[in-house]
Amino acid sequence: MLSNQQPQLIAVVPAAGVGSRMRSDRPKQYLKIHGITVLEHTVNKLLSHKLIGKVIIAISENDEYFPKLDLARNPDVIRVVGGGERADSVMSALRYVVNHFSTEWVLVHDAARPCFQLSDVDTLIDASFKNHIGGILASPVTDTMKRGDTSGRIEHTIDRRDMWHAFTPQMFKVKLLFNALSGALDSGVSITDEASALEWSGTKPELVKGQTSNIKITQPEDLALAAFYISRDKG
Ligand code: C5P
Repeated sequence: MLSNQQPQLIAVVPAAGVGSRMRSDRPKQYLKIHGITVLEHTVNKLLSHKLIGKVIIAISENDEYFPKLDLARNPDVIRVVGGGERADSVMSALRYVVNHFSTEWVLVHDAARPCFQLSDVDTLIDASFKNHIGGILASPVTDTMKRGDTSGRIEHTIDRRDMWHAFTPQMFKVKLLFNALSGALDSGVSITDEASALEWSGTKPELVKGQTSNIKITQPEDLALAAFYISRDKG
């Protein structure tokens, strides 16, 4: 179990995406669920965790929505400028962490995942403190997996044993992640989550089983599902 003596943790939230697959008039992190934005749900839940002291949010330079939120005036929230890809946004926030905090560990969590469970975060923190490297919330694949060709026909079926869906939060030692991510970006490797950078550097992060309700809002229909999970958890 976690003890109260553990140091405070920093969370990094990449929120500089445009979310074009939502086909909405604004980036998906600014769509509202039960009266507040997806970004506010996500950041408020992170800050409600007893070990998370500050949240560094990467926002795109010309974002007109963030300054209108209460979050912009929350002393525990720090805004940095995001980049062209998710990994660039994470890197920008990590640079801030390295330059301003001495905290050993960081959690990176997508703005577009407001339905994560605090109990899953506890499990991830526990596992990371034990394995000294870190890990990610994830869920074993249950569907049959197909590899398609460019014309949309099935090439073959993939063995789903040992396959996982990668979620966030992903938790790592700050310096380890900073070095891995900057090295991977400098080498031109495609990085879609923090664990990929660690894998690239030869480290094997732990897979920590989390709830499948931790969806990433991506398509229009995801918003109603997220609203359902949020009201279920509040109830
Ligand atoms: O687009 P996707 O759903 O993969 O984005 C995951 C998260 O990364 C979102 O919270 C999004 O705002 C963020 N992101 C970012 N900077 C980018 C692209 C995406 O912070 N350039």
